[in-house]
Amino acid sequence: MLKNLFMTKSVEGIIAETQESGHKLAKVLGAFDVTMIGIGAVIGAGIFAMVGEAAVKGGAGPSLVISFIITAIACGFAALCYAELASMVPISGSAYAYSYATLGELTAWIIGWDLIIEYAIGNVAVAISWAGYFNDFLFSVFGVNVPVWLRTDYRTFVQKGLDLASVPHIFGIPVVFNFLAMVIVGLLTYLLVRGIKESASFNSFMVLLKIAILLLFIGIGFYYFNADNWKPFAPGGWKGIHIGAATIFFAYIGFDAVSTVAEETKNPKRDMPIGIIGSLLICTLIYILVTMALTGMMPYENLRDKISEPLVAGLQYNGVGNWAVAIISFGAVISTTAVLLVFQMGQPRIFFSMSRDGLLPKSFAKVHDKYKTPHITTVWTGVFVGGLAAVSNIDEMANLCNIGTLFAFIIVCAGVIVLRIKDPSRERPFKAPGGFVTPALGIAFCLYLIMGLDKITWLRFLVWLLIGIVIYIFYGYKNSRLRNEGI
Ligand code: ALA
Repeated sequence: MLKNLFMTKSVEGIIAETQESGHKLAKVLGAFDVTMIGIGAVIGAGIFAMVGEAAVKGGAGPSLVISFIITAIACGFAALCYAELASMVPISGSAYAYSYATLGELTAWIIGWDLIIEYAIGNVAVAISWAGYFNDFLFSVFGVNVPVWLRTDYRTFVQKGLDLASVPHIFGIPVVFNFLAMVIVGLLTYLLVRGIKESASFNSFMVLLKIAILLLFIGIGFYYFNADNWKPFAPGGWKGIHIGAATIFFAYIGFDAVSTVAEETKNPKRDMPIGIIGSLLICTLIYILVTMALTGMMPYENLRDKISEPLVAGLQYNGVGNWAVAIISFGAVISTTAVLLVFQMGQPRIFFSMSRDGLLPKSFAKVHDKYKTPHITTVWTGVFVGGLAAVSNIDEMANLCNIGTLFAFIIVCAGVIVLRIKDPSRERPFKAPGGFVTPALGIAFCLYLIMGLDKITWLRFLVWLLIGIVIYIFYGYKNSRLRNEGI
């Protein structure tokens, strides 16, 4: 039984499967493209929204810049491990597929289940952030304010002390939900079912736009910089920095997207590390500058008043004109839309891999007759993300996404160690440098970040994993193709 649970797929088998379906990818990407893909998937709600929460939560304040560096190091180690596995086991299922080949079926299932947290729950947080900035954009340009009860969840509404008597009631129940977040998820789901492909040049254009808009914010922030706001530099001490690092991890999520294109990269040995480290460095630098600007232009405690749109809070605190609010919120809307698209597209691919392996129902792997997209899983993902975004709080969702992704990173680092011991002679188009030190440090740093998350997040995560294990026992274990057909 135990052996059954830890049955592994052979790497050859996995690669053969991808060939079977006629998917041989062209090697077209260079180091520049890979770096742009990384930045495109990474910069989004983290820097535009979560930076406020991360600065305030443990009292990191200006010292959040140190948190950003710690988290970047953790991501760097993990990303190198991702790249090693991605170049050896090039398949669309990401960490799920790697763990099937290294740590066995049960772990693979857990990871696949866990990736729902990274992709879908992460997107819930991004959609909520989108809604906040979209409203700021509408207001600053057209003077239109979407009613609060249509752009926030019930609990946040109550926590903010807003008046429930002022909202419409249906059968005596107050109607408060994030309609805006639902709308954007619905629209993107529709586009994804119809089949939309993000091209590398479009991605590069978006990335340059994001960077330009953040640079504008940095410029404005430094113009209004007041050194008094930096005293004290680390109000929450080391604990504040630690909590800040765990929370702001969200801003870096998306690096695994870089590693998944290893197979399409011309020279993965060279381009993968350049792409990964390059995009990490660029994002870290931008993040640090934004944080310096934000915490320098206003006392960080004041971020509480507009916690989900902290950059707008900084502008408004200094009375910067509406034009700046319009540009920054436009940048946030564009950035978060791009991130939403990447993850909303990624989630069905993972379901697809799991369903092909028999761990989820076959219907999940169905492709639309006309549009050739995995429409069933795309719609399910849309309903789940949109529904949850209507009723959830951004901070809770981002933290849940953080713990799930950190857990996936740990398993990937462990996978590198296992595969190097089990299969040392296999060709590794890209090998993470530093022997076992890199994966070991990756595990250590990610564990450290997990420790910085609150107990309720751990509890939610454990409940999620338990539900997953129950589903595996009653469905996946019986229907696994590997167990039944040996593939
Ligand atoms: N890193 C992504 C973002 O910040 C998830 O939106």
